[in-house]
Amino acid sequence: MSQHILTAVAWPYANGPRHIGHVSGFGVPSDVFSRYQRMAGNKVLMVSGTDEHGTPIQVQADKEGVTARELADRYNRVIAEDLTALGLSYDLFTRTTTKNHYAVTQEIFKGLYANGYIVPKVTMGAISPSTARTLPDRYIEGTCPICGYDGARGDQCDNCGNQLDPIQLINPRSRINGETPIFVETEHFMLDLPAFAEVLGTYLQSKQGDWRPNVLKFALNLLGDLQPRAISRDLDWGVPIPLDGWSDQANKRLYVWFDAVIGYLSASIEWARRSGDPDAWRQWWQNPDAKSYYFMGKDNIVFHAEIWPAMLFGYNGQGAKDGKAGSLGALNVPSEVVSSEFLTMEGRKFSSSRQVVIYVRDFLARYDADALRYYIAVAGPENQDTDFTWQEFVNRNNGELVAAWGNLVNRSISMAAKNFGQIPEAGDLTDADRQLLERSRNAFAPVGAELGRSRFKNAITEAFDVVREANKYLADQEPWKLKDDPERQKSILHVALQVVDDAKTMLTPFLPSSSNKVYGMLGGEGVWSGMPEIQEVDEDGGTPYPVISGEYDGAARWEHRPIKPGTPLAPPVPLFKKLDPKVVDEELSRLGTPAE
Ligand code: MF3
Ligand code: ZN
Repeated sequence: MSQHILTAVAWPYANGPRHIGHVSGFGVPSDVFSRYQRMAGNKVLMVSGTDEHGTPIQVQADKEGVTARELADRYNRVIAEDLTALGLSYDLFTRTTTKNHYAVTQEIFKGLYANGYIVPKVTMGAISPSTARTLPDRYIEGTCPICGYDGARGDQCDNCGNQLDPIQLINPRSRINGETPIFVETEHFMLDLPAFAEVLGTYLQSKQGDWRPNVLKFALNLLGDLQPRAISRDLDWGVPIPLDGWSDQANKRLYVWFDAVIGYLSASIEWARRSGDPDAWRQWWQNPDAKSYYFMGKDNIVFHAEIWPAMLFGYNGQGAKDGKAGSLGALNVPSEVVSSEFLTMEGRKFSSSRQVVIYVRDFLARYDADALRYYIAVAGPENQDTDFTWQEFVNRNNGELVAAWGNLVNRSISMAAKNFGQIPEAGDLTDADRQLLERSRNAFAPVGAELGRSRFKNAITEAFDVVREANKYLADQEPWKLKDDPERQKSILHVALQVVDDAKTMLTPFLPSSSNKVYGMLGGEGVWSGMPEIQEVDEDGGTPYPVISGEYDGAARWEHRPIKPGTPLAPPVPLFKKLDPKVVDEELSRLGTPAE
């Protein structure tokens, strides 16, 4: 049965180019999942965009001496281009500075406010004594009042994961110049999280056995200490607060995380409008059978497993204060929050300032997208923090992509092309032939099941087992020695080509570009698995901006497809580039040297 599946991908900040650590968290996993779901016949809507408000953007803009909007414009384009080059199949990748996003954000605010879940409160805000400007939460550092960790930030403690207010920090200091902030009264809106304790508890408990254990554990843990949370800021860059007396205050804006999570909804609405059916988004947000999967790195869990569900419950009128659904109607809460752990780089934390980084753009200038996608799927931080090393990248590329999969494709097709010029017919099959064919055909179900549950490592490992067995089969059968027995040779090559075809199908979610090539080499016509494209769009004559979208309904289906004997074959081109081992040293020398 075909299902509506929303793939909600975390929105990268438009404050700089993205590195491979970022895309290993939200990017590649969400795309592998979406491509698989489309192949399985489901109706996928994959949305995201750049996250362009708040202090992360403002602070970087100040550093670069440009306005927040200029900075956001620049990196929105850079990021959209990089994600496209990586082959990420967004139905819409937009941005948070659109009129549509402002309107949807304000609608959600109003719904929550009408139901009593957003309340004003006079709080203490931090000011820098030397500049008299507001000091953003994340630029204040101090000791965590909960766990005692000394590097806690004003918004959150990275050690215990708890949300903080800057005034709670012990020995607060500015991360910009070390001075002690002064706190003054300022009025803000608070999201009444304690009012959702019960619904959130029931919701999260129902996910036992379903979500990745580390994600659920983290989310359940947060329930122990639900506090009202400020959702506005003293800042001029963001979505205005849609209430009389507030909307015209130049220095009061909604908190960036409040508007960013609403992006999933606003992007779905924008997508529907662009598709010509403005109500089409409702199938993914209001149909009770629809499922939604949110992909991100673990530092985003609190916003997706706690705050966003609370916002949705509140908008729907489901919380301790009840209420009624806002004008959009009741909205679905996330079916699953799929979070990755962290990737490190050669044993160190990624750091742009220390040059411990490789940006997606630089990576793709030297290596293929599928090589990176493969590494992330097979060796990425799916369930635990993992380290990227150039040595492992080269080893896996050369040993697995080139020597195992590329070589299987290459030798099967080139032998068949050279000897028969076409896909040969099989004669009588031996036990070995039958076993391999069955092994390969029977892999679709388990590999698909793993993909459907976002267990990408298991899935790709299982698919690669088929590849390895096919290589072993060729080594055992030695078709190259059978010049005098063309009938047997035909059978062997037929079997090998069938398994190549099956394997390329199973590898398509991971390796879409090279799978498209294999599809073509085996005589496939038209598009197998669609690739994303950048389009320039605008809103009622506003400034054009790039969005990613694409036609992804290609021929690719999650099933074994019998190859057709007689299909002409041309000598193949290599699928993957073998890397010279010396690139390891070259890449290492590009990294900054470790600090003492
Ligand atoms: N910009 C945030 C980050 O890079 C992620 C935002 S995801 C959101 O960590 F969609 F919820 F906004
Ligand atoms: Zn702490």
